[in-house]
Amino acid sequence: MKKVLHIVASPRVAQSRTLRIAGELIARLKKTHGEIALDTLDVFTEKLPEMNITRVNGKYMLMSGQELSGDAIGAWEEIKTHIARFLAADIIVISTPMWNFGIPYKLKHYIDIVWQPGFMFKYTETGPVGLAAGRKVYVVSTRGGDYSAGTPAEPFDQITPYLKTVLGWAGMTDVTFISGQPMDANSEEGREAKIKEAIATIDKLG
Ligand SMILES: Cc1cc2nc3c(=O)[nH]c(=O)nc-3n(C[C@H](O)[C@H](O)[C@H](O)COP(=O)(O)O)c2cc1C
Repeated sequence: MKKVLHIVASPRVAQSRTLRIAGELIARLKKTHGEIALDTLDVFTEKLPEMNITRVNGKYMLMSGQELSGDAIGAWEEIKTHIARFLAADIIVISTPMWNFGIPYKLKHYIDIVWQPGFMFKYTETGPVGLAAGRKVYVVSTRGGDYSAGTPAEPFDQITPYLKTVLGWAGMTDVTFISGQPMDANSEEGREAKIKEAIATIDKLG
């Protein structure tokens, strides 16, 4: 059975346009794969460990090829649990609204916890190697304005290039972006049409 990790980064849950679109994607995945094991991780309600001095020191130990030692060992338990939860999934769905041109800070917090050397990537003599390759990733996002390809605002969109980079760094290059935009700079009917358009792209996925 395929394991799907759904990372939810809108605190609006019931009113979230992003989650409305993502719900259709999850339904589609269930149809395509038969049953799925769905793990939902809400970065706004999950208690994410702080990247404080002890945990950051641990990261530097790993970056320099050492083992974790001292206080870092205990402090890293929660980090390791989050990494294991991520790596347990075959399919990752990231549902994120645009906040100030990029992802909400809680999603960045999650990425800063999980993207660790020796777990998600490693340095080799021939360069960095991603350790989470083979996972299919879907990024569902909505934006107040319209940043789609070819529009004047496209260069301001920091969601797509950032997530492509960070996922690619960990070896995940099979990424499908599903976007609903513009949401707020639109009439109610226009917004509804854009949500339906995004859902229609899901229906066409292989
Ligand atoms: C804190 C915050 C910052 C936002 N920043 C932007 C922005 O920079 N550009 C934009 O187009 N929309 C911005 N928006 C609007 C949201 O991207 C938009 O309403 C989105 O559809 C919300 O998704 P949701 O319904 O899933 O929460 C922002 C919204 C919030 C709450």
